[in-house]
Amino acid sequence: MTVLIEEMSIQDYDEVRALWLAVEGIAVSEVDSKNIIARLLAHNPGLSFVARVDGQLAGAVLCSHDGRRGYIDQLAVGHAYRRQGIGRALVSRCLFNLMRSGIRKWHLFVLEDNQDAIAFWKKLGWTERVELVTMSQHGPNAA
Ligand SMILES: CC(C)(COP(=O)(O)OP(=O)(O)OC[C@H]1O[C@@H](n2cnc3c(N)ncnc32)[C@H](O)[C@@H]1OP(=O)(O)O)[C@@H](O)C(=O)NCCC(=O)NCCS
Repeated sequence: MTVLIEEMSIQDYDEVRALWLAVEGIAVSEVDSKNIIARLLAHNPGLSFVARVDGQLAGAVLCSHDGRRGYIDQLAVGHAYRRQGIGRALVSRCLFNLMRSGIRKWHLFVLEDNQDAIAFWKKLGWTERVELVTMSQHGPNAA
């Protein structure tokens, strides 16, 4: 199996969205609309990737940074392509390019009941931050 990893472009959006909707553990919300993903890609060139096998979308990941820390989001690998290193390869490309941008630390959110993803991230050397609490607030026009 030859896996091609390429920078995500907004032309990939419909396939990527379909993948997000097809896998467990990924919430698709208003911030995953085409306009907002286009904005993320434009603000963070060279950080988000898709994986293709024989032209078919096998996986995708969003990545960004704010100048201080990096953020990984919406990592998904299709069921037929799992446990073959695609998730690891996508994350490696993100981290390599974050480091090239001068970023030295990165974070992500995982739903507490997504134990498979937590096991995956631990396998990749990530640490669970049990001392942190996530706090959020909606702006006045939030859905
Ligand atoms: C999590 C996910 C991206 C992993 O993708 P993948 O391509 O199968 O992962 P890889 O093959 O690159 O696995 C990398 C390592 O993690 C391990 N791993 C992968 N899934 C695992 C699981 N469910 N439990 C334990 N270990 C796992 C692999 O065995 C591998 O270890 P190794 O290199 O020592 O053999 C994929 O299962 C997925 O899309 N899940 C649904 C969406 C999701 O939950 N995304 C994460 C949101 S935070």
